[in-house]
Order: sequence, then structure tokens, then C-alpha cells
Amino acid sequence: MALVVSAVKREDFKSCAQSGFCTRNRAYADLASETPDWESPFRLDPASLQLEDGILTGDLMHTPTTSSSSAESSGALNDGYTLEIHLLDNDAVRVRMSERDPKRRRYDGLHKTVLVKPLISSSQYDHLARDENGLFTINYGSQRQNSARIRFAPFQIEFLVDGVSTLVLNEGGLLKIEAAQARNDVADTRTRALLERRLEQGMWSERFKDIVDTKPRGPESFGLDITFPEIEDVYGIPEHASSLSLKTTRGPGAQYTEPYRLYNLDVFEYEIDSPMALYGSIPFMLGHSKDKTVGVFWMNAAETWIDIEKIKSTSGSNRKTTRTHWYSEAGVLDLFVFLGPTHRDILKQYSSLVGATALPQSFAIGYHQCRWNYISQKDVTEVDAGFEKHEIPYDVLWLDIEHTDGKRYFTWHPEQFPDPIDMQLHLASKGRKMVTIIDPHIKMDKEYHVSIEATDKSLFVMNSLLSPFDGWCWPGSSQWVDFENPRAKDWWASQFSYDRYIGSTNTLFTWNDMNEPSVFTGPEITLPKDAMHHNRVEHRSIHNIYGAMFHAATAQGLTTRNETLQRPFVLSRAFFAGSQRYGAIWTGDNKASWEHFAVATPMLLTIGLAGLPFSGADVGGFFGDPEPELLTRWYQAGAFYPFFRAHAHLDSKRREPWLFGEPYTSQIRAAIRTRYSLLPLWYTLFQEASTEGVPIIRPMFFEFPSDELTYRMDDQFMVGDALLVKPVTTAGATHSEVYFAGNEKWFDFYDGQVKRGPGVQSVPSPAYKIPVYQRAGTIIPKREKPRRSSKEMENDPFTLVIAVDSNGEASGRLYLDDGESFEYTRGDYILREFKVQGRVLTSRSLNRQESETEWSFIRRFSSLKVERIVFQGLSGPVSRVVIGDRPTAVESGHDVAGGQYVVVVSKANLPIGQDWSVTLL
Ligand code: GLC
Repeated sequence: MALVVSAVKREDFKSCAQSGFCTRNRAYADLASETPDWESPFRLDPASLQLEDGILTGDLMHTPTTSSSSAESSGALNDGYTLEIHLLDNDAVRVRMSERDPKRRRYDGLHKTVLVKPLISSSQYDHLARDENGLFTINYGSQRQNSARIRFAPFQIEFLVDGVSTLVLNEGGLLKIEAAQARNDVADTRTRALLERRLEQGMWSERFKDIVDTKPRGPESFGLDITFPEIEDVYGIPEHASSLSLKTTRGPGAQYTEPYRLYNLDVFEYEIDSPMALYGSIPFMLGHSKDKTVGVFWMNAAETWIDIEKIKSTSGSNRKTTRTHWYSEAGVLDLFVFLGPTHRDILKQYSSLVGATALPQSFAIGYHQCRWNYISQKDVTEVDAGFEKHEIPYDVLWLDIEHTDGKRYFTWHPEQFPDPIDMQLHLASKGRKMVTIIDPHIKMDKEYHVSIEATDKSLFVMNSLLSPFDGWCWPGSSQWVDFENPRAKDWWASQFSYDRYIGSTNTLFTWNDMNEPSVFTGPEITLPKDAMHHNRVEHRSIHNIYGAMFHAATAQGLTTRNETLQRPFVLSRAFFAGSQRYGAIWTGDNKASWEHFAVATPMLLTIGLAGLPFSGADVGGFFGDPEPELLTRWYQAGAFYPFFRAHAHLDSKRREPWLFGEPYTSQIRAAIRTRYSLLPLWYTLFQEASTEGVPIIRPMFFEFPSDELTYRMDDQFMVGDALLVKPVTTAGATHSEVYFAGNEKWFDFYDGQVKRGPGVQSVPSPAYKIPVYQRAGTIIPKREKPRRSSKEMENDPFTLVIAVDSNGEASGRLYLDDGESFEYTRGDYILREFKVQGRVLTSRSLNRQESETEWSFIRRFSSLKVERIVFQGLSGPVSRVVIGDRPTAVESGHDVAGGQYVVVVSKANLPIGQDWSVTLL
């Protein structure tokens, strides 16, 4: 394989040294580390503290000490700040700091878009007034197990769980808030040493390449250090093409020289193993060690950078402490701390604030076939026929930008797509759907209805001079809809009604691309920061959430276009915290290389850990032409991505699954069919994610939280709690090293061969399969008959594949609903729990609502059957199987490996909607 040379144009994107506020905040950290006995100049006034209804407020003062005084000469600083600590009913704590009397108001409206509901204060707390150490402590949580310990001078907040220090704010003394100010407030600069000049860099304007950011509001950045005591591994803050456990960016031996950057950007052929910003940003970080887990959500949508350093623990423990330093360019310092105590609790607490994933339509978890572009209706028909001919299931065919009339979204190319409704109906007759691309740039065109309406209604983003901003994107000269304007959302959503989007049907769904937003002529290929939104909100303050607002408006359009509401399906490239409420995301323009294929795993795991589980990477790689082996290996792994879509660049060769001939066609078919056989498991996992906020594909540590060997493992993963998957990411591999965690058995998904943990073992990974293992103690629901599409499987019976553990026990679930509507929110669903205990398998309902007979889905589908049941890992032979009170012949019972007995009941015929039991004798 040829050596892959990264083609990213690094010079298109800023480094920290080219960003004023990044330089200033990093310089402040340098000043702190170079100053002996550095102390934060922030002090909390003890007399000002008030704790009422779960909210503590106090006055923070900025009183320079000698150690920090050199920093004080840099720019005007406000001396009065307000601290707020909100204790919330879900045990999360919100911490806010801002100027008491700002000269210019900061943007503080993010909560309206990000938080799902108004926050409720907790009543579960008590406090200890200032103790002999000068600390003010609040104990909170139902058992008062959590504490926030506040130090007045220098100001610091330490969070503890059961008395153990878990997270500290401002321990390193890097809190810095640049007072929002007008230009003439700033003191003249004297000749300064280098460090001092860096402390002031780019405060009033900043040039990058040929574009000047005018910064009319002057500097308003802020930064804070967040320390994870005795926690060596921190995760999250996607999106970066980097490892799962985040790397160090500061301190001796730092693995990266640049901080991790969060700034949604359209990065062409992105660099691998880099902290460079990509398309999406989620400022959520999880710290995890054997003894403690903690989460932080930094609620800010301006450009943000994060430094990570591992330092010696003050406790003298061998375990290092991770110190992180966060700084954002604008907005307010507003963060949430989650103390769990477990990582699952943390994700639940976090998702109760920003929302868990929306349950998708069931077709959306099938296989998606995309390329830039299927060029005509004829092309679509032929590709569809190819799937039929080769008996490969798929659910959705996608149309990229060329399907439009001159890149005017909501239109069709008149010659190539003369009858889009007929085309959609043809696919729909086989249970299939279509997706068309709708981007946020609107072609400047006096004849184009979308452009005319948005102009008439003044719904476009303005430039810094308050006239409509125009820039260049696919259609040429374009404008961008201002989703900060509340009128824009409803207007945009209304574009999806069938009478406006001519040629659309209820089986047509949407792909939102280029929504960072990508502006070919803009600084760093995006909107200028001084562009203006509704109510004079600078783009700078909301850049990272722009794409999610667009995603939300589109999802609203697809939901409300029908009289009876249908769940939307919208794929987005840009994302922010909360995007999971609107649909899926993908990792953008990757490359057909083994390296890009391999990095997809840690990227998707990280995005899932940050609360956005519905994600995928372009299978096959977007740029370039994958060799057939790479393409096949990518399908085999992609079949285990939550969002499973193949996609390819306009200039790449065609690569529909059958084009490489045998053995590849059969291997790809097998991979896609495996996905379809497991759709019941996937859908059940989406339901769990939608209520619990947990990821669907999970890092190994998520399932084995006390196994330290898993903390940096990011080349294999779990699907739910049951399946272990190891993508094969090297050419020519015939064996793979797989880590089997825990002390239990693992059953080969394909042939039931048993492996035992813990430890690494070399297992065969021949060209036709990748290692997939079922964990002992689990039950997986499947549907085994291959069909054309997921829709055509909806009446098919189920198979339960059971892997009992060494106690002879196992459990699993199955969730089913109509896969389209919102009736499940009223109770029209089937949720079963299966359990094996003492050689008896039982099925019982977990439906919360009782009025089951009224519901149409339950009525229609309760009689679906569990047809086959496979018991693996039994410790002794079975002579008879009793179903209810009906003895049944055992179809086969044989010893597979290592004394494990397998029993297959092939005609169980048990109704899915009823309680029943199966006894092995
Ligand atoms: C962007 C997208 C890519 C798409 C192309 C044309 O590069 O990331 O997926 O095919 O635009 O729309």
C-alpha cells in the first residue's frame, strides 16, 4: 500500500499562535508556570456569599498579587465578577462566572438552544459555613455524598465524592476573564517582554491570510483550568481525528504541540492523529480512573481550545493527575459538573440537560448507499436493480448536490430527474427511501424562490457592516440563513412541506452538509466571526452551534410535513452538544486509506461518549479509490457503525458493492446481511440510548470500567454490552489480536467457538469476516432471513442467541415499535426482557404503560414469534426442552468447544408480546 501523505491544507487553518485569544490564554498559563508560587488573583468575598434555593452567589474580585501583577497591566480588567453555583435536581452542578457590571453585554443565550428544559434546583443539600481552614462546603445529592468545597483566596472550587477529590476548578490558577470593553479603555502598550506581548496579542483585530477580523467588541475571552485529580485518562471533546484517550498538549514530553481545538470547520482530507478542529464540536469531557469518574460540560459555542497536561498528583499517589485548560473566545463562563458516581450516571445526568438521542425511524439504521453523484433517474434505477440482482439488502439511496437544478436546493435537475415522485415511489414499493442533500448556502438568484423569500423576510446573516453577507459555495455566490432568528427556523421548516418542496414524498429524507458553515471565500473556509446575526449577535459567539440550529430546523420540517407526525431523518456534518436530538452525523471527508479507516473507530467512540451515538464514517473512504480489500474490510467494520453509509467523491471510480467481482461481492453482501440480521439488537440499543444517554458502540472501558488495560484501547469496541468487534485495519491480515476482557467466556459470533478472558489472543480474521464475539451473560435478538430492506423484515420471526455465563445466567432485551411515528411516546411499543436463570429462559414485559390492547402496533405485532432459540455455553447436556408445559424435541445438542453445550430450539413459536418460559431439562 502506498504511503499516505496527508493532503490537508494546514495553512488554511489557524494554529494557536495565529489566534489572538489562544496565544493570550496560553501565555497566561506560561506566566503561571514560570512564576514561582503562582497564585490566582481571584478572591471570593466571604461576606458576599448567599445560598438560597439551591443557588449560591458571591462576589469574585480580581486583586492582583505580586506574582500575577505583570499580567494585570495587559488590557483593562474588570474588578467585580459574579460567581453562581447552581445545585440541580439531577445532581449536576452549574458554575457561572461573569462581570458584575459589564461594559458590553456578553452573549448569554446559548441555553435556549442547548438545554432541553428549564433547570430545576435541588433541595437535597446542606452547607457548612466557613470552617477553620477557611473553606465553605456544600454537601449535596440524596445521601449528601457529593461536596463542593469552596476556597476564598485564592479562589478555587473542589468537587468531592464521598470525601474523595474528583474535580477542581482553578487549582492551577489559570482563571482569566477579559472584561468585555470598548477600545479606548485599554492602556497604551509599553515596550514589553515577549511573554507580555503575547498576553495582548490580537485583542483588537486579527488578520488571517487576507481577511481581517475587525473585533468590534475587543477582547472578551476567558479561560479556566479544570483538574482531574489522580485521573490519568480523559475522553471526549470531539471532533478530532485522534485517539480515544486524549493526548497531552502541554508539559514535558507533550504528545501534541497544539491544543485541541473546537471550531466547526470544513477540513478537506483531514490530517490524522491531530488536535486540529474538524466539522463538529462537543465541549464535554469525561475523566475516568479505576476509582472515580467525572464529567464536565463547558457550555460555550465560540471557538474554544483545550490544553491537556499530566502532572504529579499532590496526594503523592503514583497515578498522575490530568490538568486541562479551557479557553473560549466569547460568551460567558458557564459549565456543568457531573459526579456520577458511575460513567453511566454521568451520561444520564448530561443527557437530561442536553437531550438524549432521538429514536430514529427504523429504516435509518439499515444500510445507506450514497455517492457524489447518482447522476440521473436511470442511474438510480440501475443501482437499485444491482442490489436486487446481487441480493444485497439496502434501505436508502442518496442524491448529492448534482441532482438539483443548478445547486438550488429543493429543486430537481429537469433533464436528469424529470419525475422524482415516480422514482421515489419505485423505491418505496420495495420498502426503500431516498435522501436528498439540502445545504445551508442559498444561491443568490432573483428567480429562486428560497432566495427571494429569505431576502424578503430578512432572514439572511449580515456582514459586519450590517448588509447581507455573501460568500462563495457550491452554487457560486450564496447567502446563509440566520438560524439565530427565531422566525428563520419555522420558515426553513416550512420549505419541506410537500407543496413547497415539489417532487418530494413522505419517503424522501434529508442530508444537511456544509453547515459549519462552509464558505469557500471566508476566513478558514467559514463565516467571518464579525458577521452579524439577529439581535446583533456576533457570529463569533455562536459559530459552533450554527450547524446544529440548521439541523434542528430541518428535522422540524421533516417532522411537521405530515398530518400525523413522522420521525425525521436528517444527517448533518456539523454538530454541537444536543445534535443527537435532531439526527445522525458523519465524520466528513475522509480518505480511502487504511489510516483513515482505522481512525474512524476512536472518532466514533469519542463522539458517542459525548452523547451523540448516531454516527458513522463514509464506508470506503470519500476521497480516492479503495482497493477491494480495503473496501471489504471497511464494509465489515461499517456494518457495526451506528450510521452505516457508503459514500464516494465525484472523481472517484464507481464502487457499488458488486463492482469488484468475487470474492468481494459475497464478502460485502455477507457484511451487510450481518447488519440486517442484527437490526433488532441495534434498534433496541437506540431505544436504550434514547432514554439513558449511553453510547451505542462503546469503548471497552465503558463495559469494563475497572480494567485499566482497556482505558486507552480504541481499536476494538463493544456494540451495546453484548458484542465485541475488532475492525481489521491492515492490508493482508489473516489474524487479529483481540483483547478479551473480564473473566468470562466470549462466543465467536459466527461459529460459537469459545474464548476466555482476560488477555490478548490472536484469532483468525480471514478475508470474509472480522472478529466479532458475544459476551457470556448476554442474549441477542436477531432476524435471520435476508430480505431486500428493513421494511420487508417487519413481519419476520426472531431468533434469540443466548450466551450463558459461568453461573448459567444471561439477560437481554428487545424493543419494537412501528418504526415511524411518535406513538411509542404514548406507550405503543413492545419492550421485553429475556432472562436465563437456573436453566429457565423467561420473557417478561417492561412496558411502562398498561393499556396495551388499545395500541395498534402492539395489537398487530404481539403475535410475532420467537422462532429459534440458541443456548450456548451450557455446562451440561440437555435431554428435553419444555416450552410452557409443552415438551419439545431438541433439534440439536452438541459439544462445541471446551465442554460447552449448545442447544438449538428451532420451532419455539413463542409470541413476542406475551410472557412465557422455556425450561431446559
Ligand atoms: C462535501 C461533503 C461530501 C459531499 C460533497 C458534495 O464535501 O462532505 O460528503 O459529497 O460535499 O456535496
